[in-house]
Amino acid sequence: MKKLLINIKEQKQVSYPIFIGEDILFKITSLCDLSKYSKIAVVTDKVVEKLLLKNSRQFLPENSFIIVLPYGERAKNIDCVEEIWRELFENGCDRKSIVINIGGGVITDIGGFAASTYMRGIPFINAPTTLLSQVDASIGGKTGINFNEIKNLVGTFDQPKAIIIDTSVLKTLPEREFVSGFGEIIKHGLISDKNYFEYVTSKKPYEFTQEELVGIIEKSCELKGSFVGEDEKEGELRKTINFGHTIGHALESLSFETDKPLTHGEAISIGMVAESYISVFTNLLKENEIGIIKNGFVHAGLPISYKNIDEKRVLEKIKGDKKNERGLTNFTLLRGIGKSLINQKVSSKIILDALKKINEL
Ligand SMILES: NC(=O)c1ccc[n+]([C@@H]2O[C@H](COP(=O)([O-])OP(=O)(O)OC[C@H]3O[C@@H](n4cnc5c(N)ncnc54)[C@H](O)[C@@H]3O)[C@@H](O)[C@H]2O)c1
Ligand SMILES: [Zn+2]
Repeated sequence: MKKLLINIKEQKQVSYPIFIGEDILFKITSLCDLSKYSKIAVVTDKVVEKLLLKNSRQFLPENSFIIVLPYGERAKNIDCVEEIWRELFENGCDRKSIVINIGGGVITDIGGFAASTYMRGIPFINAPTTLLSQVDASIGGKTGINFNEIKNLVGTFDQPKAIIIDTSVLKTLPEREFVSGFGEIIKHGLISDKNYFEYVTSKKPYEFTQEELVGIIEKSCELKGSFVGEDEKEGELRKTINFGHTIGHALESLSFETDKPLTHGEAISIGMVAESYISVFTNLLKENEIGIIKNGFVHAGLPISYKNIDEKRVLEKIKGDKKNERGLTNFTLLRGIGKSLINQKVSSKIILDALKKINEL
């Protein structure tokens, strides 16, 4: 088992461990001291409960109980937050209680949000169970829900007490969800480390051995930790990890109106291709590099286009994004593979041109 430490420099005293290893979820009480908490509320979804928590009595303390939400992005809403708050209250949770989020990014986002607002904030631990949440969503302290059909419109910054990454739980993850995690992994390479980009796109996701996969999870946790550790709130360095997300989030939200919703990793892959085009149109990225980027996503099994999008509606969604400042659309762009540039203001015309590209591909 490996233990990483995330240090939040703005708040010198805040640091928390990330435990990474096989079968460690079931050893949670030996990794984290849960004896000091009055109640332990586990937040999970239906699928994860069935797969991982059937024998939870054997590894969770007596004073714990489980809150089960529906699965998937549609559960990331205010009604489910209310459900968590209600169950916390009805089960007698007080300021000395703790929440443990066991699930994918939806659960770590919503469970973290409910914990950080209940009684003005109680502590929480993340135990991410999808690849995407292990390498990205569970780290960094962003919590939140979707509101008014805009992704993550309401949320808080609140750091978990610890993160427990049990790599053996990935065995049951459907292939599409596993590949989705590579969307964020490839992003980590694109924004900061060319060698890492080349390595993680050198094989198809399923061709990496278990040992190599654990190495990738550790490296991505370190990279994400280095961005958010420097800068907990949406300051400068942290904006780097938004690459692909301005357009990606708009596509993700709109796809929920169709019968073929995108996963988060799929949406940001298309978003990264579109934002790479913006990088080319603004003379930051070379034309030939976009080919390498697209091949990387295709090789991983991730989409690079989105047919029949209503470009104007995507633009409307983008305008509602909280990354906008004073009406201007703020992008993180690439100035080469492994090099990013934040705070790039882009006109609607260039955004529309990039959307046309991903509509055509
Ligand atoms: N806070 C952040 O910094 C951050 C970063 C990236 C993404 N996110 C958010 O994360 C969410 C996406 O996360 P996700 O891709 O994990 O989605 P998810 O939580 O919906 O999980 C995907 C599916 O996998 C199932 N599942 C979970 N663990 C499983 C397992 N071990 N075996 C089998 N099935 C399992 C879930 O029930 C769900 O159906 C999005 O809402 C996105 O906005 C947040
Ligand atoms: Zn993301």
